[in-house]
Amino acid sequence: MADPLRILTVIGARPQIIKAAAISRAVATSFRDRIHETLLHTGQHYDANMSQVFFDELGIPRADIDLGVGSGPHGAQTARMIEGIEQELLRSRYDLVLLYGDTNSTLAGAVAAAKLHVPVAHVEAGLRSFDKRMPEEVNRILCDQCSTWLFCPTATAVENLAREGFPMDVSSPPTADRPHVVLSGDVMFDNSMHFAALAAERATLVRDLGLVPNGFVLVTVHRDHNTDVPERLNGLFEVLLALRKKHGLPFVLPAHPRTRKMMDLLLAPVLRKAVADDPDFHVVPPAGFLDMIALEQQARLVITDSGGVQKEAYFFGRPVVVLRPTTEWVELLAHGQAVLADADPQRIIAGVDRFLREGVPACPPLYGDGHAAERICTELLKAY
Ligand code: UD1
Ligand code: UDP
Repeated sequence: MADPLRILTVIGARPQIIKAAAISRAVATSFRDRIHETLLHTGQHYDANMSQVFFDELGIPRADIDLGVGSGPHGAQTARMIEGIEQELLRSRYDLVLLYGDTNSTLAGAVAAAKLHVPVAHVEAGLRSFDKRMPEEVNRILCDQCSTWLFCPTATAVENLAREGFPMDVSSPPTADRPHVVLSGDVMFDNSMHFAALAAERATLVRDLGLVPNGFVLVTVHRDHNTDVPERLNGLFEVLLALRKKHGLPFVLPAHPRTRKMMDLLLAPVLRKAVADDPDFHVVPPAGFLDMIALEQQARLVITDSGGVQKEAYFFGRPVVVLRPTTEWVELLAHGQAVLADADPQRIIAGVDRFLREGVPACPPLYGDGHAAERICTELLKAY
């Protein structure tokens, strides 16, 4: 039998660990003899509730290599990751490096691999916010430029790449100079479908907080543009508190460590007290994946600046108010599943009021058929 395809998968931030679960599961169930995957964790996220919990809950094998880079400014953090990934690529032979999304861990993997001529496969390629002030926009554009396979979750992502001049012809074998653009569907949809029943059975947070299905609002905020700018952070909490009181619904905010830190640093004392004194405004630690899925399944409405949470809300038929000026997931806007509100109080209030009144319209599947991971593995194997 031929040697298995040797993949080095680079993960580091919470959503990447979650996304990697879909392909690790596909390898374990359908490609065990043909693909050998090594997991490298950069250590970008390291708290147990930002990292280990996902390995445990999603059944991902332990990382084979942990660089333990931790937090830091963009340049220093990314440089430490590049150095560690490069050392691993020099130490062992890999047929390709598999990267997810748009974090500093993604960029580091792309730079390290491309310079050593190890082919890059990018999952979540082609997404664009058209806003280069977002660190993620810079990371994803650079990673796409280094990639040999660009696995697009949506037709819009394929169109973005076509507009940027990526070849759409896949008749010759893929190379870094003539990459293959593939519409694969979204591995996050695979995961949400796979774990939905388990979440309904095992998650406890909704009950522990005394919440009832369809009777609360789920909020997440972690983008630097929202957390690190005092006026935006204060403005957001002011409007969230006001909406909670106006609608009489409990709000749950599983707080990213960045958000928790910036709340302590930047929130006006009067707002911090108002949050602490409101028994129905639950600021809780980052949730595990099963609890998070259960929150999304049962929330009446989701308010978020997260990329992943926007889509998961839609997977479970929940309307979303997006706390960003742009989104890469434009199909959600086009189908009336989400509205963009940025950090503008009037737009946030209008979006929340409307969705609480009207809910969301029916919508066709937008992110594939739940088998993106198998499609990606099959495509990678074709080239070897
Ligand atoms: C990163 C990604 C972002 C992604 C998010 C997912 C980049 C540039 N950004 O943002 O695209 O949406 O992850 O959650 O890669 N911290 C802890 N414990 C941890 C991890 C972080 O306390 O386990 C704190 C540290 O103070 C750190 C801050 O959070 O400085 C920010 O972490 P970092 O990984 O730099 O960026 P995120 O905001 O998490
Ligand atoms: N998530 C989670 N617990 C939380 C918040 C998010 O498990 O407290 C999951 C969420 O279900 C989704 C992913 O993390 O699968 C999204 O990650 P995040 O919002 O950190 O980053 P983004 O998607 O914006 O890059």
